[in-house]
Amino acid sequence: MLEIIGKVDKVIGPVVHAREIDKAKMLDLVEVGDQHLVGEIVKLNDDRAVMQVYEDTTGLAPGTNIYSAGVPLSVDLGPGLLGTIYDGIQRPLEVIRDSSDQYIQKGIHVSALDRERKWNFKPLLEVGREVEGGETAGTVQETELIEHRVLVPPGMAGKVSWVAPPGEYTVEGVVARIEDQAGLQREVRLYQRWPVRRGRPIKGRQPLSIPLITGQRVIDFLFPVAKGGTVVVPGGFGTGKTMIQHALSKWSDADIIVYIGCGERGNEMTDVLMEFPRLIDPRTNRPIMERTVLIANTSNMPVAAREASIYTGITIAEYYRDQGYHVAIMADSTSRWAEALRELSGRMEEMPADEGYPAYLPTRLAEFYERAGMVETLGEKAGSISIVGSVSPPGGDFSEPVTQHTKRFVRCLWALDRQLANARHYPAISWLDSYSEYVEEISDWWQERSGGEWKEIRREIMDLLQQEGKLQQVVKLVGPDVLPDTQRIVLETCTMFKNAFLQQNSFDKIDMYCIPQKQIKMLQVILDFYKLGLENIKKGANIHQLKKMEVYSDIMRMKFSVSNDEIKKIDEIRDKLSRSMQRITEMFE
Ligand SMILES: Nc1ncnc2c1ncn2[C@@H]1O[C@H](COP(=O)(O)OP(=O)(O)O)[C@@H](O)[C@H]1O
Ligand SMILES: [Mg+2]
Repeated sequence: MLEIIGKVDKVIGPVVHAREIDKAKMLDLVEVGDQHLVGEIVKLNDDRAVMQVYEDTTGLAPGTNIYSAGVPLSVDLGPGLLGTIYDGIQRPLEVIRDSSDQYIQKGIHVSALDRERKWNFKPLLEVGREVEGGETAGTVQETELIEHRVLVPPGMAGKVSWVAPPGEYTVEGVVARIEDQAGLQREVRLYQRWPVRRGRPIKGRQPLSIPLITGQRVIDFLFPVAKGGTVVVPGGFGTGKTMIQHALSKWSDADIIVYIGCGERGNEMTDVLMEFPRLIDPRTNRPIMERTVLIANTSNMPVAAREASIYTGITIAEYYRDQGYHVAIMADSTSRWAEALRELSGRMEEMPADEGYPAYLPTRLAEFYERAGMVETLGEKAGSISIVGSVSPPGGDFSEPVTQHTKRFVRCLWALDRQLANARHYPAISWLDSYSEYVEEISDWWQERSGGEWKEIRREIMDLLQQEGKLQQVVKLVGPDVLPDTQRIVLETCTMFKNAFLQQNSFDKIDMYCIPQKQIKMLQVILDFYKLGLENIKKGANIHQLKKMEVYSDIMRMKFSVSNDEIKKIDEIRDKLSRSMQRITEMFE
């Protein structure tokens, strides 16, 4: 119930000071002025309050009323989230656009979920059963790809007293009643609400052990992320942050994607809004929007909405995790989010810390990344949230606060390298500056799928890269020609590894996505080239003979020429390599 809780005192951009405040709490949602602009109480002191407002405050006059229902900023969670594009406080962009001339009309109140649309509900509870929050009350086929599990809201518990028959219900439809300990009848609906700044409860955290397969070789092989893990992708302008997050949205094996876009360039979000609805999921041949929720912050939206957007996004992610899904969040770019935080903090005249960011920047970052993880849900399902956040350090300088603080809270870093990007080596993930702390945790998964070879393959490749690093020092001083061929083959193999394996073209139909089995086979060929080549060199062959083999170009091209469903062809290349090497051996026997 909306009540008047105070009056506008002064307006500083998105920050509104209030007086004569009565009955308000921290983080209560407010509606400000005659236009009912949506905002949130962020400071409270006696009868004075400071609010951040999610809409343009132009024209807002001191003395006008502030209203509140005494509830925190919350989101609607239920069927219909998938495929929808929202702003930072979960207003569907389509609806806002249709209902106003301007891009976003002020104070518009639209529901996040379509209140009229009907869903075919199948109950799973029986009358008389004891249930707790988090259990599945029934299901709805939300999209072709995703079965929506209608959950008993967290905190509700008791005996089922009534179950709705199977049939068509709107999101507000009551599908079960539960009698709680006090004898009250509590209603389970197709949707529930949850405050965005509070993590949804879980039964417990689980160890991470399964990789999030991305189909991007440099990631899956060198710097893997586990399902439930966290990654930061720092990179200067144009080094490929957005491309990587798009690739993961399209190809990673998460069940659900939540994409939070804070556009860097004016038209970047528009590209996402145009492109995503057309993309087809390669594994299911269905539109990827059927498993995606998009949260878009365009540059004409107020900063407070951008600040809220990552909480809106992660709360939606938690809701699907609680249904037993593996969710991946892409936040691009978190620098834009941190700048929103900085701007709001500045308007509130808070004491600035590093580079003008508020002193609580690290706390906020930690709170966000801590909501990732592999969990046992309240309903005893396994679910996970992985977070990939990009950072765009001004001037590409990774020592700035957002990059530095984020690094403390994540366990994997894909450092984008300007020189690689300039050389059009994409993804421009530096193999020297990047790291993943998930390698041990996920290595059993890869061992099982590589006939027990993965660890050894990785060790051998890492060893070669290390040797190469040292040899490059020599090459810098005196050039490659002085190196003996036993060392030049190390350089050649590393070049092959970088060009034929690490480099991957997101625009090539075959190369854009590489399944794990193809990755392993490619690596085996590259290592064979090294081992057989080295033996031959020791027998008297030279590096040029190895590079002149016809199969050499087959290897360099295999990422483009062999598609994921015909990877046996790589075995043929491997056999051909072995025969060619054998012929060279014979020349020296
Ligand atoms: N994997 C890739 N394959 C091919 N081209 C790429 C790849 N990654 C980046 N690029 C090129 O780099 C450009 C800039 O990438 P983008 O992701 O927009 O950079 P950022 O978000 O870091 O500013 C892209 O438009 C594209 O031409
Ligand atoms: Mg970008």
